[in-house]
Amino acid sequence: MLNEIDETRKSFDEIIVTVDNLDALEQLRVKFLSRKGSVSQLFDSLKDAPKDEKPKVGQALNQLKIYIQSKFDERKEKLEGGARNLDPNLDLSLPGRKQILGSKHILTQTLDEIMNIFKGIGFSVSEGPELESDYYNFEALNFPADHPARDMQDTFFVTEEFLLRTHTSPVQVRLMTERKPPLRSIMPGKVFRNEAISAKSYCLFHQVEGLYVDTDVTFAELKGTLVAFVKQFYGEDIPYRFRASFFPFTEPSAEMDVWWQPKGKEGRWLEILGCGMVDPQVLMNVGIDPEKYTGYAFGMGIERTAMRKYGIDDIRTLFDNDKRFLTQF
Ligand code: DAH
Repeated sequence: MLNEIDETRKSFDEIIVTVDNLDALEQLRVKFLSRKGSVSQLFDSLKDAPKDEKPKVGQALNQLKIYIQSKFDERKEKLEGGARNLDPNLDLSLPGRKQILGSKHILTQTLDEIMNIFKGIGFSVSEGPELESDYYNFEALNFPADHPARDMQDTFFVTEEFLLRTHTSPVQVRLMTERKPPLRSIMPGKVFRNEAISAKSYCLFHQVEGLYVDTDVTFAELKGTLVAFVKQFYGEDIPYRFRASFFPFTEPSAEMDVWWQPKGKEGRWLEILGCGMVDPQVLMNVGIDPEKYTGYAFGMGIERTAMRKYGIDDIRTLFDNDKRFLTQF
């Protein structure tokens, strides 16, 4: 009889795992647990068991009945679904968890804003590599080897020939080499400088370069474009000025300042970009005839622009990725 009890348990185990609806479950109940079911039949035949085996067989039968009943109940609860189906540790009275949505980094937002303004006045967007050759980063831009102007930009050299670009100006050279004028493009990207890290400077930052080459491009057009830009970016009343400056790849060269008035502090002029007329030598370096074409160029830093606009006083916070900082914007 012990064998039969075992067989019954096995056959129950085989069937129960296939039961996936209440009808099948009912059939299972009839087969095993009803008055005519196999468990009852086993109980009936208990009286025929040899006397000395009866206690053992009786115990095994009781265990079988409890086993089958509990598995049956468990299955039934699952199939009936509803709240009883849920993990008892779930507390349905708890308020829902808010989904946290990511957002654009403040630098990306600033970059987007700047690019949209220039796209709106007819500039396309171009990009170049962050690992540059000495030729594009310096040579073609009129920084000859050993020229002191190279010291303006502390460079991370990777090999003697390759470096992490120190500015986005090499993209100008690539663009002018690859395409024929008229060219009107902005070139955003990361740049790298081997500088001591402080609240004001970081080894990595972003620039947006601008270039316009065509017949009869003038300095007045450069000024007009940049003034239109600062008015749109900072507001119609922003005070601005141009100062004469020097860059090896532009002649004449200038820097543009805007007036910055932090709350509760004294206002002052802040440099926002370098610019100038593309040096005829640079045009010749890329095979553009300087007798026929002229061009202007400018380059601005994004970090500074964002810091000023949003009152951020430490550049490092832009790279820390601290959510407490980032979620403020
Ligand atoms: N590349 C310069 C820098 O990183 C900025 C600059 C100045 C870009 C004048 C220009 C320009 O295109 O015309 O300091």
